[in-house]
Amino acid sequence: MVLRWAIMGTGGIAAALVPAIVAEGGSVVAVGSADVDRAASFARTHDIPRHHGRHHHVLEGGDVDVVYIATTNERHHLDAMACVEAGVPVLVEKPFAMDLSRVNGVLAGAAARGVFVMEAMWMRLQPGFRAVEERIAAGAIGEPTTLTAHFSISRPVDPARRWFAPELGGGALLDVGIYPLTLAIALLGEPTEARALGTLASTGVDAQLAVAMRHPRALSSWSCSFVSDHGVEAVVGGPDGSLSLQHPFQNTPRVVHRVDGGIVEDLEVVGAELGYRYEVREVHRCLADGLQQSPMVTWEHTRQVQRWLDALRDQVAGS
Ligand SMILES: NC(=O)c1ccc[n+]([C@@H]2O[C@H](COP(=O)([O-])OP(=O)(O)OC[C@H]3O[C@@H](n4cnc5c(N)ncnc54)[C@H](OP(=O)(O)O)[C@@H]3O)[C@@H](O)[C@H]2O)c1
Repeated sequence: MVLRWAIMGTGGIAAALVPAIVAEGGSVVAVGSADVDRAASFARTHDIPRHHGRHHHVLEGGDVDVVYIATTNERHHLDAMACVEAGVPVLVEKPFAMDLSRVNGVLAGAAARGVFVMEAMWMRLQPGFRAVEERIAAGAIGEPTTLTAHFSISRPVDPARRWFAPELGGGALLDVGIYPLTLAIALLGEPTEARALGTLASTGVDAQLAVAMRHPRALSSWSCSFVSDHGVEAVVGGPDGSLSLQHPFQNTPRVVHRVDGGIVEDLEVVGAELGYRYEVREVHRCLADGLQQSPMVTWEHTRQVQRWLDALRDQVAGS
């Protein structure tokens, strides 16, 4: 059965998901925007039959099996809730919401109505990340004790872009810091403590953070930045070696396993180029199996990450 998707949002990531949906055997039947001309242009470019000048109007027509929310951060929870209330499964871009209470509101609605919801945290589904998880579980580095990571992209301040606009949920932490935070939680467990230092952009959003976290049996230190171009890399280490996830670690094309500083495995990740197709595939699989949440990107994963996004944002606010 061809699953019929609708997309809320017309930006860069919405455009990137269309070919992934089609390649995984789905079709895109509607797109919604706050601007009808933007919706029309997106629909023309991507050969989508319906377009709307209101995001939620994609739910009209009764021909939508699943919605992908690719709007700006501050409205993810509203868009997700509209889908949940309509009983339509939904894939929600990261960050799922601006705070944990909003995450919990959507997930409580989904639980009550039996609606599938998944955060589009694609890193958890990528083959490089899975390879690292498998090697850790097999004892390749011993029990992990340390993780270091950075996700840094240099972006000139532009108050019109979502990255720098406080009213659109801008800031480096929600945009890119969510990846090292998710990686640390996924590989080391939920933190018990976190300390962050930050600097703010002239628009007031966080431009850069340096973070240290204590996990049950490990420490992590990571950074995220809009003011530095030093790449997107991560290393997880234990008493018996380390695993490096090479740039860009959220969809790493290469994992290097070192013991005593020497390379014991240099893994070229097969399938990394499929990118967003894995999250689309996972949504299709979960819907076919009648699941309400993905076992790979669970609601608890989303809650854990949001809890620490909230805590870190509180620490850097007013820096
Ligand atoms: N998973 C990933 O790898 C990944 C990558 C990038 C972003 N994201 C997430 O996806 C969400 C959207 O990010 P994005 O990169 O797609 O943002 P974007 O390109 O800035 O688009 C965001 C919104 O801006 C509006 N917009 C687009 N083009 C416009 C234009 N020419 N003039 C005025 N407004 C315009 C659209 O609003 P309308 O909807 O009203 O048309 C669009 O939905 C964010 O939550 C982000 O965190 C995820």
